[in-house]
This record gives sequence, structure tokens and C-alpha cells, in this order.
Amino acid sequence: MNLNICCIPGDGIGPEIIAEAKKVLKKVAEKYGHNMEFTDVLMGGASIDAYGVPLTDETIAVAKESDAVLMGSIGGDTNTSPWYELEPHLRPEAGLLKIRKSLNLFANLRPAVLYPQLAGACPLKEEISAKGFNMLIMRELTGGLYFGERKTVEENGMLTAIDTLTYTEEEIRRIAVKGFEIARKRRGKVTSVDKANVLDSSRLWRKVVNQVAPNYPEVTLEHMLVDNCAMQLVRDPAQFDVILTENMFGDILSDEASMVTGSIGMLASASLNDSRFGLYEPSHGSAPDIAGKDIANPIATILSAAMMLKFTFDLDEEAAAIEKAVEAVLEKGYRTGDIMSEGCIQVGCSQMGSLIEEAI
Ligand code: IPM
Ligand code: MN
Repeated sequence: MNLNICCIPGDGIGPEIIAEAKKVLKKVAEKYGHNMEFTDVLMGGASIDAYGVPLTDETIAVAKESDAVLMGSIGGDTNTSPWYELEPHLRPEAGLLKIRKSLNLFANLRPAVLYPQLAGACPLKEEISAKGFNMLIMRELTGGLYFGERKTVEENGMLTAIDTLTYTEEEIRRIAVKGFEIARKRRGKVTSVDKANVLDSSRLWRKVVNQVAPNYPEVTLEHMLVDNCAMQLVRDPAQFDVILTENMFGDILSDEASMVTGSIGMLASASLNDSRFGLYEPSHGSAPDIAGKDIANPIATILSAAMMLKFTFDLDEEAAAIEKAVEAVLEKGYRTGDIMSEGCIQVGCSQMGSLIEEAI
């Protein structure tokens, strides 16, 4: 198979973790006889430094011509980086929002899994972590507060900032369908998360999700308020299979879910549109404080590459080979600093990548 992959190394630890994911992908291509082409492009701070904007039209065009995009991470230290002295629409994150919108990547899948080998890193009480958990957060990615009209005005000498939260029933329906579709291939449960006791957008969300549900009789649907969900994630994470939610709630809940797994350095993500195209990136940020030190954990990016093989290319066996290689390396006791525990062997970013490459 020919795989035409656009790579966005990005900022901070991005280039280091992407290098490791490429290593692993090249090994998979070699072993299974695929032809992989990588085209590197700039986004975020790296693009600001080169072109003055966080995302150029040329970069969007390259991404569109490819089968999938594999991304590292973008952004810098918001307190010290000069990128954050620019107008909001010229900052690194604006590039990420623009590429999501331009490619219509409305469905963001963020799996949060507690690996048995890493149960010790889970900050929850042992009686909770012992049950293990494996959930998938399905976050709407191109609507809501992130893309509503916003402005700051001065009225009678008083500054007032306005952000708008808008959802159409069509935007809700298409993400709900994705949520139910994936739940039926998993454990058959959808928890739709909203704030329907306060927000109109949430009341519409709940109504549309209820309309979609009868098409999936094998899937159980429950509704949960977002504040309760935040609590349930630490009280009993094993209860969740698919969490279906809007953009902002999904942003917050997915960070919380990743924390209870013990390391955000392990969590992959896929952002999909209605075709097979997708953008794959780790759920974590660019960690500028540890950039260039060869200590970042490349596993989330490597697992994102596995998601790419599965969702865009239908290469389930190859994806499983990567997942198994990651588990084998963890089983042998190798850890990057973020997931290190007593009795294990600490390795750097590139060594972790090489170990996984060898385990393929
Ligand atoms: C994420 C990030 C982004 C978001 C930022 C960098 C704009 O936090 O992918 O979760 O809020 O969506
Ligand atoms: Mn986030």
C-alpha cells in the first residue's frame, strides 16, 4: 500500500517525538511491505518564525493532498515566548484551530487507558485503579465556544469580553453518530456529557443525541452533567466506555482522564472528518521546559501513528503490532522519566523509540 503522510513536527518536544514515531512507522512499512512517504511541513511557532503566521495556505494544501497528517505538538511557554505577544489570531494555537476547521476534523477521539504495567502511576486509590479502565472521549472539535464569535468591547469605560457557544443540530448529529458507531464496536455504552441544567446548547445536544440513539439499539445511552462527570472520572473511571461531549467540555475532561491514567505522555488522539482522512497527534502539549533534552515520552505519538494506520489506512494488523510493541517494552520495565517507578529502567526519548522499533 502507498501511504502518503504529512508530518507536522511543530514546537517544543514535537520534533523529537515525531522522529521516534517515524522510526517505528518505517519499521512497520519495511516489515509489512508498504511504501510510506513523509512530507514535513511547519505549523505553530515554527511557522510563525519562518513565515510570520502559524499556518500557511500552502501547508493546508499539502495536508489536504496527503492521506493523513501526523502531528507532534505546537506552542511555547505562554509566559515567556515572544509568540504570545502577537495578536491572538497569529499565535501558535490559532494554527491548530485553523487546520481543524479547514480540514473539517469535527470528531476528536481521545482514548484513556490504564495500562496494567503503569497502574502504579495512577494517582487514584488502589481499590479504584485495581479495576482498570479503558474509555474513549469523543470530543466535538469544530464548533462551540472555540469557533463562536468573540470580541472584547468597551462600554461606558467598562471592558466586556464576549464568547459565544453555538451548536447546530447538524453539528451535534454527526458527532453523535460517530460516538454511537464507535461504541458499538467497543463495550456498547455512550455517556453523553452536557450542562443541560443551564445551557440551551446542551439542551439541544441532549435532544439530538436522544434522536440518534434509537438507531443503535445495541448501545446503552446515559446522560451526565459535566460537573458530575468530572467527579465520576476520579470516583469510578471504570464505568465509562464512550464519553460523547462538546468541544470545551471535551478539552477539559480529556486532560482529567489522561491524568488518572498516570501519564499524559501515553495518550494518543485522532481527529477525523467524514472521509478516511485524519490528523493524529498526542493528547499532550509541546512541553517547552523539557524540549531538546531527549527525555520526552514518545509513546503517545507512536500510539497516534497506530491510530492512523487503523482509522485512515485500515491496517489493523500493523496498528496492533505497534500497540503490542509498546506493551512489550513496558513489560520489560523500560520507562521514560514521566512514567518512571522503582525497579524500572529509565530511558530517554530516542532510546524508547528504538526499543519500540526493535520490538516490531
Ligand atoms: C488540545 C489543546 C488545544 C485545545 C489548544 C492547544 C488550543 O489543549 O488539543 O486539547 O484546547 O483544543
Ligand atoms: Mn487540551
